[in-house]
Amino acid sequence: MLIARFLSSILAAVSVVSAAESLGKYGADMVSTSGFASGARMAVQYHVTQSAIVMGVGAIAGGPFFCAENRLDIAEICMTKPDQIYEGWLFHLTSFFEDTTVIDATVNMQDDRVWLFSGTADTVVHPGVSAKTEAYYRKYVNDSNIKAVFDMTAGHTFPTENYGIACKLSVAPSIGSCGYYAAFELLNHIYGNLQRPNEDTELHGNFIEFNQSEYFRVSPPAAYAMDTTGYAYVPSACKNNKGCKLHVVFHGESQRREKIGDAFARNAGYNEVAELNNIIVVYPQTVATPLNPDGDWDWWGYNGKLSVTKLGMQIGAIRRMVKRALST
Ligand SMILES: *[C@@H]1O[C@H](CO)[C@@H](O)[C@H](O)[C@H]1NC(C)=O
Ligand SMILES: *[C@@H]1O[C@H](CO)[C@@H](O)[C@H](O)[C@H]1NC(C)=O
Repeated sequence: MLIARFLSSILAAVSVVSAAESLGKYGADMVSTSGFASGARMAVQYHVTQSAIVMGVGAIAGGPFFCAENRLDIAEICMTKPDQIYEGWLFHLTSFFEDTTVIDATVNMQDDRVWLFSGTADTVVHPGVSAKTEAYYRKYVNDSNIKAVFDMTAGHTFPTENYGIACKLSVAPSIGSCGYYAAFELLNHIYGNLQRPNEDTELHGNFIEFNQSEYFRVSPPAAYAMDTTGYAYVPSACKNNKGCKLHVVFHGESQRREKIGDAFARNAGYNEVAELNNIIVVYPQTVATPLNPDGDWDWWGYNGKLSVTKLGMQIGAIRRMVKRALST
């Protein structure tokens, strides 16, 4: 019953359409990223491929870099059978990518900040997979910079303080009312000493729908399973080149615009933290395609074998979005 009411309130939001504008040149700095499920895989990919500019990552129900090795059958193992994920092999593959310069030098990750979360009741991504993500990062990142939260009774869900469906569920749209403010916890781990929002926190900035088509040169975004429109939150203090931080959020498949409009971007809890702490938040969006019927981010190579490298089509588009937001 509660779920039905929640979903109908979301569907009401989907019908509100407004024209796409462009991302601005915000002169931002200190780039970090986070995501949920396939979005967490994408956040890790974005971090590892571009660690020269990305300084922190938050991954909820994610997995280690290049775990799927461009194969759907291995991707399945990477979700359900952590005992068959060999981090030594992933280190080897990472070295190969590093040597061929299709990812940034891994030494850039040493002082980065890594925050990992997995619910003990997740029935979609085995909790042991996040432990493998931790093992992967421990090779490259200073131990004290890694925080793992693996003990909460949550399902396959993005945890919020009090928005969404029951925390223990592992069903769409995977936004769980968990009494736990994941967006604040991860941003605070990445940036440190942030001000924590409360129920009186008001959003005075701009929530925008931006035109993702501008970041694709040859074919339209749908050719790479990306939407024509993305979302962003620009805090009031960040509108005019104030050196704000930049955080890129990758939604889970059931949280994309096509499914729930802006409900995730507005309610996951990031924007309130962003407003109080001068962080611009960009929410790129995927769409479903025949090759990618669930609208996942590309972590198993449906856009080609270079998907998880700097030459990946989605990674490239994200790089151009970030470049715009960093420029003055
Ligand atoms: C942490 O990383 C820095 C590089 O940023 C390095 O100089 C330092 O030795 C590392 N500390 C530990 C405890 O590994
Ligand atoms: C979005 O960008 C594309 C490519 O630059 C352009 O052709 C299109 O007209 C833009 N759409 C809107 C709604 O401005």
